Amino acid sequence: MKHNQLKEFPPTFLWGASTSAYQFEGAWNEDGKGPSVIDTRSPREGISDYTVASNHYHHYREDIALLAEMGFKAYRFSIAWTRIYPQGTGQLNSQGIRFYNDVINELLRYGIEPIVTMYHFDLPAALEKQGGWSNRRTIDAFEAYAKTLFENFGDRVKYWLTINEQNMMILHGSALGTLDPSLQDPKKELYQQNHHMLLAQAKAMILCKKMLPHAKVAPAPNISCVYPASPCPDDVLAADNFNAIRNWLYLDMAVYGRYNTLVWSYFEEKGYTPKIAEGDMDILAAAQPDFIAFNYYSSATVKSNLRDTEEKGGMGDQQIAVGEAGVYAGSGNEYLERTAFGWRIDPAGLRVTLRTIYDRYQLPMMITENGLGAHDTLEEDGTVNDHYRIDYLRKHIEQCRLAMTDGVELFGYCPWSAVDLVSTHQGVSKRYGFVYVDRDEFNLKQLRRIRKNSFYWYKDVISSNGSVL
Ligand code: BG6
Repeated sequence: MKHNQLKEFPPTFLWGASTSAYQFEGAWNEDGKGPSVIDTRSPREGISDYTVASNHYHHYREDIALLAEMGFKAYRFSIAWTRIYPQGTGQLNSQGIRFYNDVINELLRYGIEPIVTMYHFDLPAALEKQGGWSNRRTIDAFEAYAKTLFENFGDRVKYWLTINEQNMMILHGSALGTLDPSLQDPKKELYQQNHHMLLAQAKAMILCKKMLPHAKVAPAPNISCVYPASPCPDDVLAADNFNAIRNWLYLDMAVYGRYNTLVWSYFEEKGYTPKIAEGDMDILAAAQPDFIAFNYYSSATVKSNLRDTEEKGGMGDQQIAVGEAGVYAGSGNEYLERTAFGWRIDPAGLRVTLRTIYDRYQLPMMITENGLGAHDTLEEDGTVNDHYRIDYLRKHIEQCRLAMTDGVELFGYCPWSAVDLVSTHQGVSKRYGFVYVDRDEFNLKQLRRIRKNSFYWYKDVISSNGSVL
């Protein structure tokens, strides 16, 4: 739809950006922190591990001052479960509580709204040892951890996100480093784990409403529209399949407390049906999010795949459109350019995604990730001219405004990432931040913070409330 007059961003719009604990904090074993699955997996060859990352743990004051200088209204970060409960459950680590109290208080000192992700890929290794998400006791451990977070930070944190990108952990855990490589029959087991994670999320949402009636809680999946490769009805059906498996499984459960019909028939066909214990569906039905948070980087395009062959692919190509026999196959999209890392750039796809989510669930939305991973260059004069990032973000913000004019309720935009950090599987050379962190994969240098050109650009975007792009 072409609009002659665009709606303004509301004055309360939450402009900010995001990070996650294990990619940003470093200090992986300091002040009582226990190891997470990320810390115990073998590092990838040729790229940095997460032991130091951007050392935000020791630079948080300086980092938050930079966010404040950009005029941030909100900042989304995750709490490392293993800083709070080093073994995932049991003994509480007061130094972990202290650290996040300091971060939250520092944010509030500048009037920045903290948005907390409770779990961003870093399951405590001690829980993984006991079966991780295959073990129903992990559901209880997550609920107990959530209770501790609400008790300690709920007086100041209003926005809570349960689990970051549960759908990517299920669909693409090997790239993220969250998949247990010893799983015998990964897909079947993963959907059982998925069921347990959905229950953990539901319990945390129920608890949040009970303990913090004024707080707002949401799931945080990675959602992107799925296009059919052609108008051929078989391709359209394949897109429907992938949409259900990739997106709606997670949001239908979070919002309506039921399994998506198409996904359930896919489970039955493939033998992935999870075991559902008595009472599970009641818990799932009783939980309700207040809004939908989602991460968007790219769209996916798929075609029909009625043959019996599996298609293999990588996260670099449209993130996960790899294909599955009889269900869908990943396809290219000649209309879209790609980033230096092969991800397709599709700003209009964000508008489609916003419209579709709003149509399905009628809940306010917050974008909790969106951004461009690139090899930035620190010039000799100390500048970083990331015009390509500005271009990417500008086009996506324009689409947010169009979608809001279409009628969707969007109340926040937190791209990835506030400051440079270590990517999920491509090291520090793949950068996303508004602030450059001066380190290489293996040479940590001084970890100096340097404002990129996008820093100044985003500052103007925020001060003009999105009217100067
Ligand atoms: C999302 C994750 O999948 O995408 C982040 O929530 C991640 O943790 C981001 O860093 C970008 O992906 P990558 O692989 O380029 O780091």
